[in-house]
Amino acid sequence: METMETPVTVVILAAGLGTRMKSRKAKVLHSAGGRTLIEQVVATALELAPPERVFVVVGHQADAVRAAVRTPGIGFIRQEEQKGTGHALMVAREALSGLDGWLVVVYGDGPLLRAATLRSLIGAAAGNAAGVLLSAIMEDATGYGRVLRGVSNRVTAVVEQKAATAEQLAIREANMGIYCYRADLFWRHVDEIRPDNPAHEYYLTDMAEILNRAGHSMLAMQIEDPRECLGINNRVELAEADRLLRQRTAQHWMIEGVTIEKPDTVSIDAGVQIGMDTVVEPFARILGTTSIGENCRIGAGAILRDSVLADGVEIGAYTVVQTSRVGAGASVGPFARLRMDNEVGPGAHIGNFVELKKTSFGAGAKAGHLAYLGDAQIGEESNIGAGTITCNYDGKRKHPTAIGKGAFVGSNSTLVAPLEIGDGAYLAAGSVITEKVPADALALGRARQVVKPEWAARRRERQKP
Ligand code: UD1
Ligand code: CA
Repeated sequence: METMETPVTVVILAAGLGTRMKSRKAKVLHSAGGRTLIEQVVATALELAPPERVFVVVGHQADAVRAAVRTPGIGFIRQEEQKGTGHALMVAREALSGLDGWLVVVYGDGPLLRAATLRSLIGAAAGNAAGVLLSAIMEDATGYGRVLRGVSNRVTAVVEQKAATAEQLAIREANMGIYCYRADLFWRHVDEIRPDNPAHEYYLTDMAEILNRAGHSMLAMQIEDPRECLGINNRVELAEADRLLRQRTAQHWMIEGVTIEKPDTVSIDAGVQIGMDTVVEPFARILGTTSIGENCRIGAGAILRDSVLADGVEIGAYTVVQTSRVGAGASVGPFARLRMDNEVGPGAHIGNFVELKKTSFGAGAKAGHLAYLGDAQIGEESNIGAGTITCNYDGKRKHPTAIGKGAFVGSNSTLVAPLEIGDGAYLAAGSVITEKVPADALALGRARQVVKPEWAARRRERQKP
């Protein structure tokens, strides 16, 4: 069978609970590199096969695992009782045996496996092989199945750790548990797997011996870096997978023209996009579906989640941006917070200790320091003074504040919503504004200043002992 044009079906085994995670959550629902293990493996599978040919075998927390896979069209197969890796395929028979071509089997807890490796595996199967397994030469192969080879390097069997003789245990070639089979031969012989081992499990590894016995050839392809096959069993391995996936993501963006300072300190999720010539400073976290334009700067320790930044945006150090959009050339921070659902216009400036929530902040507008703007609309080129607060909450409900274009809001203004401030209006510093201010008006809302000459000096005299 040839590789080109031959369809590929991928089966992801993900029915196990993963007791060693010590979690109420199924193992494959834990995240590494910014997505769940199962989403990561599904994404890899989708590089080889269309969704209709990708299947996940689910058991523990089947519904939750299913919900975590958001690509439409992926197939799910229920394995109610986990009676072994071979059994996981046996229950998939009905759904899969009509699909010709290559049958690739991977694990849901192996997020580091690359599609390129699976392509080479398929390439190695092309020709006369009935199947190929992925193996690695390990310093210490304890716990893995060992690969037994016969004439012309064909795999004659895989023996599990528990069943291996002392001689077999000395074999350093370990089975990684990742396979590519000729689908027709696989389904013809899968029922020959017997639970004749101390664990009474159906071992998928028995297929090597079964195919061999039937006169077909099973091969093994050695992988150079066995870390790619790291299966996540506990939180230590989860952290290692996270580190390696993020390293890969950072390298990808650097190759694409993004400067990343101290990349090991930066976290970029799998779903992120970053434009050319953007600079990412140390300890930045760019998360979720965030998309960043060209020529931006993301300051040290900034956290961006599910947000969209146009070109030339500057995010200062320790700024938090969540579900917000920032227009071209705008600058936000350092130490600013775009809490949720904000729209910051092009060229706008938001400075330190300014918080925005559900606010649309016009092009070229400025809020340089210490302000809270919630449920507000700020017109273009307006200036929001330091200490301005929109009082948007009356204890029960939220109310809007609308400020027109080119308005000047003096420092320490208290804007009691609902409120409208017209274009070009001017609010005196320290005002409490409760009523609508028409365009181009001046509004003052503060007590008149009182000056008592010599008062302080007299007080000091009085207080002398
Ligand atoms: C398996 C291989 C072993 C190989 C190792 C590599 C077998 C019998 N042995 O052992 O040769 O060296 O992988 O990691 O295959 N699963 C199901 N349903 C089941 C059983 C398992 O979905 O009924 C899933 C698990 O959730 C897990 C994966 O299959 O993600 C591997 O199963 P596991 O029991 O951990 O196999 P190993 O003992 O690691
Ligand atoms: Ca395992």
